[in-house]
Amino acid sequence: MATSNSRSCLQYLFHLAQDNLDFRLAEIKALLALRGKPFLPCENFKEKSPFWCLDGLAEDDVHGIMTRSVCAKSAFELWGHGRTHSELRASLLNYPSENMRVFMQKDSTYRINVYTFNKTVEFGDRIKKIDAMEYLPFEGTVNLKSPQHIFCLLEDYGTDPNNIPEHPDNIFFGRWIADGQRELIRSHSVKNRHFIGNTSMDAGLSFIMANHAKVKENDLVFDPFVGTGSLLVACSHFGAYVCGTDIDYNTIHGKGRSSRKNQKWRGPDENIRANLRQYGTEKMYLDVMVSDASKPVWREAALFDAIITDPPYGIRESTRRTGSHRDITKPAESIYVESHVPVSQAYHLSDIFSDLLNFSAHHLVMGGRLVYWLPVYRPEYCDEMVPLHPCLRLISNCEQTLSSHTSRRLITMEKIKEPEELEILAHLADPRFSPYQGHNAFREKYFSGLNKRSCKEDNTSNVNK
Ligand SMILES: C[S@@+](CC[C@H](N)C(=O)[O-])C[C@H]1O[C@@H](n2cnc3c(N)ncnc32)[C@H](O)[C@@H]1O
Repeated sequence: MATSNSRSCLQYLFHLAQDNLDFRLAEIKALLALRGKPFLPCENFKEKSPFWCLDGLAEDDVHGIMTRSVCAKSAFELWGHGRTHSELRASLLNYPSENMRVFMQKDSTYRINVYTFNKTVEFGDRIKKIDAMEYLPFEGTVNLKSPQHIFCLLEDYGTDPNNIPEHPDNIFFGRWIADGQRELIRSHSVKNRHFIGNTSMDAGLSFIMANHAKVKENDLVFDPFVGTGSLLVACSHFGAYVCGTDIDYNTIHGKGRSSRKNQKWRGPDENIRANLRQYGTEKMYLDVMVSDASKPVWREAALFDAIITDPPYGIRESTRRTGSHRDITKPAESIYVESHVPVSQAYHLSDIFSDLLNFSAHHLVMGGRLVYWLPVYRPEYCDEMVPLHPCLRLISNCEQTLSSHTSRRLITMEKIKEPEELEILAHLADPRFSPYQGHNAFREKYFSGLNKRSCKEDNTSNVNK
């Protein structure tokens, strides 16, 4: 691998977590896009590898990405790379000394860490690996506790735990720049959250969604199926003002049965505002209200910088909307109108998604993003099933497998033009934009699959809706 030859065109090495593999590329690309930077992988880029080398970045960009990413663990300024230690040595000796010198001066302190991926290396062997790097011209003093500069030797032993090679496939050496935000997954875990429900979104995925949506400070973010507000929690952490709606009165008002094991009823102050308060972002809370996402309640304007949501799939939660059979069979001026009490009728998944895309086309600002989950029956899935809209460009489509036969896909779209009356009519007639009706049978397919296999296979404790 060629290393850079001036401090202005350095390469950076990202060490990524090996979970949520399918979401990593879209996250890093979105965070780069937030900074107006393209994704420029170095030669031999492998998406599933824990190590990515990127070109075309400045150190500030790397810091910016690492203040947001929950997929990246750490980032380094890459000084050398090889498939063997002697290749690494040649690469490091070839690295411009003016790039290193400033971090190796006499009055500086430093430490070298050794990190091995997919192999445990004993303490003594780690020390030997560090000693073997004596060819690097360090002039400073070693300080293990609080050094000014941290360097890291990273060895990659592949991704197959059942087939660990004796020698690493790749070895990197670089200067540590920053760690990512993996800690948010623990600090915001729903296990310790004040207000939760049966379908509260996992903290890591909520932050990933906010990143895919490019949510930034002072944005206005809306979740039309807000539930307990997990997505609002993540977006408010990144400095966005947040609001949401839900058809369920109890959820919005924090009343009714508790989802906690040892608690029958929700306690006072178990609500979305309290969740934001728990994480110190209450000032970003605008409001939430009871409303049916299928009904137009917003004024006709582009209001939101991002729409992020997790619609009901009809598994743990019913997919309902307000209305009754009377809506279909009786004319509006019917005698029933005066005494009408809203009841509910089925809200088919295909309608949920086409309403969501239409709503987003009308209410996102230009360039604003829609991020949502689409449940799919895996044996039948093909990309053509992903709903499209002429005003929204598909940015990414990432799969989270739930079981052998079901998964959900995180869809990210960006608004590229304003909807126009004529175009809307044309779009209704265009088969590319007509909703895939197969989504409506997701519930039946989900349960038919369940009967065919053991429940142990199911990986959906918190995600069946
Ligand atoms: C999967 S949950 C959302 C969970 C949420 N992300 C959280 O972290 O708690 C879907 C939510 O959609 C709501 N819902 C169902 N039908 C709706 C409709 N027609 N309009 C608005 N909300 C609806 C349900 O009450 C439920 O709270």
